[in-house]
Amino acid sequence: MTGPLTRVVTFSRYGSTDDVGAWIAAALTREQDQSVYFTDSTEDPSTGLGEASSVIVGVPVYAQHFLAEARHFLAARQDLLAGRELWLFTCSMGVSGVNDLPRDAPDLVPAGVAHFAGRLDFARLNRAERLLMRALRQSGGDRRERAGVERWAASIGRVGACLAPVPRR
Ligand SMILES: Cc1cc2nc3c(=O)[nH]c(=O)nc-3n(C[C@H](O)[C@H](O)[C@H](O)COP(=O)(O)O)c2cc1C
Repeated sequence: MTGPLTRVVTFSRYGSTDDVGAWIAAALTREQDQSVYFTDSTEDPSTGLGEASSVIVGVPVYAQHFLAEARHFLAARQDLLAGRELWLFTCSMGVSGVNDLPRDAPDLVPAGVAHFAGRLDFARLNRAERLLMRALRQSGGDRRERAGVERWAASIGRVGACLAPVPRR
């Protein structure tokens, strides 16, 4: 496959955001005329950033914030990310999602941000997390919806960088 490179990079503690990133990468590979390079949370998020024309970053929400590793990456790599078409998606159990772009990364202006429902599997959580989720009366389950994720992936190719930048909080 030829054409501009789309970099998909995900951060994750329990794998659900990684899965969503893999769905997006697969959908883009299938439906867009562009090369896609995907790495999940077990790999180096910075690999190949320099060659990418657009970057899609997937981030899970913990305690109303982006996962710390993702915040660190966005802040530390803003020099590279700012010059590219940047898309963000979050995975969380909340209805509205969270926009938690690091304040020390003022040059990051995503073309778009999507909030996807995630997965909360009590069996995978550590004891403290399980107790916290129970105290918050958070119900578990897998709320992810692949068709909706794939629709978003398809729309990225169509709208490109024409979307208005998403305002910061
Ligand atoms: C300790 C803990 C805190 C969480 N905090 C939030 C939260 O503040 N808001 C929310 O919507 N979801 C919250 N979640 C749900 C996660 O965002 C959701 O399970 C997500 O899919 C996890 O992604 P991952 O599997 O890629 O790590 C929390 C989950 C855990 C275990």
